[in-house]
Amino acid sequence: MAKENINQHHNEDYEYDTLTNDKLIKDHDYDGIRELDNDLPPWWKWLFYITIIFSIVYCIRLFVFHSDDLVQDREYEKAMVEAEMNKPVQSEAIEFKLVLLEDETSIASGKETWDKICAVCHLVDGGGLVGPNMTDNYWIHGNTVEDMFNIITTGVIEKGMIPYKDQLSEQKRLEVISFILVKLQGTSPATPKAPEGTEY
Ligand code: HEC
Repeated sequence: MAKENINQHHNEDYEYDTLTNDKLIKDHDYDGIRELDNDLPPWWKWLFYITIIFSIVYCIRLFVFHSDDLVQDREYEKAMVEAEMNKPVQSEAIEFKLVLLEDETSIASGKETWDKICAVCHLVDGGGLVGPNMTDNYWIHGNTVEDMFNIITTGVIEKGMIPYKDQLSEQKRLEVISFILVKLQGTSPATPKAPEGTEY
């Protein structure tokens, strides 16, 4: 820029409107129509700068720190895991099956129930007292897991066998049945009661 222009009102880099003295865009003339060379309003410029700053921060979080909440795939996976965990538990109650349990924990739990509740009438060693002998091959109501489950659930009140539907869970009933079949059947109790029912 030439020195002598500094103090002049007009700058030679620009052209000025002859009437209003507003700055005009140089070499920009359509049949005499000119455009003013106004500065952008500060609010607009700041908005623009802020979007640039935002995009830089965003890119750093996404590509450098792999921030989880910006990656849709991972956000989706996380949501799926959460949903899986909050699913209502489809417990064994629904899949409860009347099959003999042979694991030690179930047998031990079954023995506990037997000693505490059943032994009063059937004796600890299963020899029988008020209730029939559980060690022999004779059964009044059948020897399958289902047969025994039904008797323990509904009882035979008129004969003195108590229903355990409310007192013992299905699992506990199955455990005590398993204990009888695995641990008492075929043993020799101290004072065996005479066989009752049919031989199986
Ligand atoms: C108050 C005494 C009493 C108690 C306690 C008792 N029982 Fe009995 N139980 C009997 C009697 C009596 C019978 C025979 C029922 C009949 O003649 O129909 C019987 C029958 C049974 C039978 C059927 C036996 C067969 O020959 O078909 C099973 C199985 C049985 N009890 C299991 C149990 C279990 C398991 C418990 C503990 C949870 C239990 N009982 C507690 C008195 C009892």
